[in-house]
Amino acid sequence: MERALYGPDGFFVAGPGPAAHFRTSVHASPAFAAAVARQLAVLDDALGQPDRLDVVDVGAGRGELLGALLAQAAPELAARIHPVAVERAARPAGLPPEIHWRHEIPEGITGLLLATEWLDNVPLDVATYTPDGWRLVLVDPTTGEETPGRALSLADTAWLTHWWPPPVIKEFGSGGGPDHDANPLIIGVERGQPGGWDGGWARAEVGRKRDEVWAEAVGRIERGLALAVDYGHLRDARPVDGTLTGYRDGRQVPPVPDGSCDVTAHVAIDSVASAGERVARCAYTLVSQREALRALGADGGRPPLASASRDPAGYLRALATASAVAELTDPAGLGGHWWLWQPVGVALDPLVAR
Ligand SMILES: C[S@@+](CC[C@H](N)C(=O)[O-])C[C@H]1O[C@@H](n2cnc3c(N)ncnc32)[C@H](O)[C@@H]1O
Repeated sequence: MERALYGPDGFFVAGPGPAAHFRTSVHASPAFAAAVARQLAVLDDALGQPDRLDVVDVGAGRGELLGALLAQAAPELAARIHPVAVERAARPAGLPPEIHWRHEIPEGITGLLLATEWLDNVPLDVATYTPDGWRLVLVDPTTGEETPGRALSLADTAWLTHWWPPPVIKEFGSGGGPDHDANPLIIGVERGQPGGWDGGWARAEVGRKRDEVWAEAVGRIERGLALAVDYGHLRDARPVDGTLTGYRDGRQVPPVPDGSCDVTAHVAIDSVASAGERVARCAYTLVSQREALRALGADGGRPPLASASRDPAGYLRALATASAVAELTDPAGLGGHWWLWQPVGVALDPLVAR
């Protein structure tokens, strides 16, 4: 995954960038940047309106979110923003010169650290559950063919034990009794529904390295807020077969790590939050994007029909905004993404907009 995405011909560093292949909230609508701008204003007040307000976007793509934020922030606030894009890809041509471009997260941030759909692209290992316990999944990088490999390291096993408990193993048939021949010993994996299992081996995605990089990112904040927005899951509802998948040219494809497609897996967001909390030493807030955007004033409501005859152009603009917000808040799509706020050294309620 590391080589496929970030090696010399890696998908994210050699290609045209994420927006050419899939649609994130940032690309879906300026309403997303508007909500982040409102969040930034709340943070700015809580920080006492510093002369320089850092806004660091980790995994910035081609800098789209920072550009939109600068355009949407109130002029007085925009003038104090110090925008930094952190990306493994090179600085794109045509990026506004006021946006700084770096490959590493700076130290001593006072302000906002953003990570929209970054963590799902932080490489991870996949494990498969066998009668001998968890084993690494090995993949042929040209064909995508998978085979079980060595046992997991102690650190990864400990992570799985806590954050991705092994599936319930059921033994069907005792190996004796009248049905012995017709009903040999079968070990299957409980699939979450009562009585349901298909005899396949469960898979898990080991999020330990994501916890580490997130904790390190949060540790770069002196005072401020870290905000991660991503698709993910919680311990009580991990997907039995994992979520690893690929994207290319707007379509979902098998996650063959050959550099020709995105390779991504949902984020164990509660584990990431807990790792960040240990560094921030401050309680975190975790809600769905739908809830977050509504709290920040993007409700997706349609404009009143009566306004169509009074101001047809205004009505159409409001309708377009409403449908873009509806996409961002759709619980079956982008609205189901998680917003994780981790304040550092500052008291603020992230769900209260200005
Ligand atoms: C899915 S894209 C998200 C782009 C953008 N944030 C958005 O929401 O549209 C993930 C980006 O994270 C970048 N990335 C991954 N790991 C990184 C790291 N350790 N440092 C900087 N950028 C990274 C990739 O190069 C890629 O451009």
